[in-house]
Amino acid sequence: MEFSYHNPTAIEFGAGSIKTISDSINKDHKVLVVYGGGSIKKNGVYDQVIKALENHTFLEFSGVEPNPTVETMNKAVKIVKEENIDFILAVGGGSVIDGCKYLAAASLYDGDAWDFLDGTAEVQRALPLGVVLTLAATGSESNHLTVVSKKETDEKRMYFSNHSYPQFAVMDPSVMATLSDRQLGNGLVDAFVHTSEQYITYPTSALVNDGYAETLFRGLVKLADTWEDRRTQPWLENLMHIANQALNFQIGAGVPQDWSTHLIGHELTAYYNLDHARSLAVVQPYLLEVMGEEKEAKIAQLGKNVFGIENDNAGVIKAIEEVYNKVGVPTKLSEYEIDDKVISNVSNALTNNGYTAIGENGTVTLDKVSTILTMSMK
Ligand code: NZQ
Ligand code: ZN
Repeated sequence: MEFSYHNPTAIEFGAGSIKTISDSINKDHKVLVVYGGGSIKKNGVYDQVIKALENHTFLEFSGVEPNPTVETMNKAVKIVKEENIDFILAVGGGSVIDGCKYLAAASLYDGDAWDFLDGTAEVQRALPLGVVLTLAATGSESNHLTVVSKKETDEKRMYFSNHSYPQFAVMDPSVMATLSDRQLGNGLVDAFVHTSEQYITYPTSALVNDGYAETLFRGLVKLADTWEDRRTQPWLENLMHIANQALNFQIGAGVPQDWSTHLIGHELTAYYNLDHARSLAVVQPYLLEVMGEEKEAKIAQLGKNVFGIENDNAGVIKAIEEVYNKVGVPTKLSEYEIDDKVISNVSNALTNNGYTAIGENGTVTLDKVSTILTMSMK
């Protein structure tokens, strides 16, 4: 077991916590408040943020789209540079947060900041970033991962940087009251797959990682089983807490990780605009089946410790699918409008990105990807 783990994001969790941003952001800063398509204006989040910043100097940038693009975020980079902004406040879900992580780094970079995405350059510095989270799913609010797209080329790429951790993340679960069932279901599935990608690999002796991941899984299964309570405060609080813990990379510290479901899913979103979580749900069950031998021991452990299923790995995969279906997320690619180029589109994109042998053992090759997508299309 060997790992370094340093997560500097301060968490403010609970109803009414948005007001804490008044004190968390230095009054000498000139702030850019960044948000998406306007949901925050309908649920009171915008008003709370503006009230909390009444003694700060700030500008606004809106219109960050789901699956944020560099085309949009580069417009914000221009504003940051022209207006000498020195603090970014992201108000939204994973898309706004990721867009702002890119913005914070791109604003202090002289070249084309796509360099961070294609691996040409590493982030050396970034403006300070704060987050007001409005959607529980990605964990982006307290991690160092950025996922952004380039519309021009249909690419969705990602990078890690220790300069991307937000300084703080405000998590008030009551602001999730205005999320649609679709977004709540998506959030639960994304968190489940994040936990899976750091757990369903091969056995290790890491008791803490296994035990904590299983706690997160059990929590998500319980939330799926109590889907009818999804509009209650405890349900929303738990989803927000679990989704955060599922991808602050603590359960992955020092253990093998997979991420092939995400890499394949990202390409489905890039080409077919599937919601992020939905792109994962149509890949993971078949990936677990195709990679079933290598993952045999961990699927069995998940079955025993989370679902109470023994000696039936096919039954465990079925149980995972049932979790997704209970929250309204389909597990078949054939449920969506997908053309017959899907396999070549995904394979070509994976090849271009250097992802031809992915997964914890580097054994998820393009022929496996093709099998996985074919199974999902049936
Ligand atoms: O744009 P607005 O108006 O805010 O509406 C959003 C958006 O339409 C809406 N929404 C958010 N909070 C709301 C709300 N509507 C009503 N009430 C609220 N309280 O929800 C829609 C989806 O938002 P989005 O931010 O796109 O969702 P999510 O948080 O799932 O983020 C998805 C993005 O994160 C990336 C995904 O690839 C995708 O681009 N990911 C980022 C990760 C990371 N940085 O760690 C890891 C993930 O695996 C993932 O790849
Ligand atoms: Zn995800």
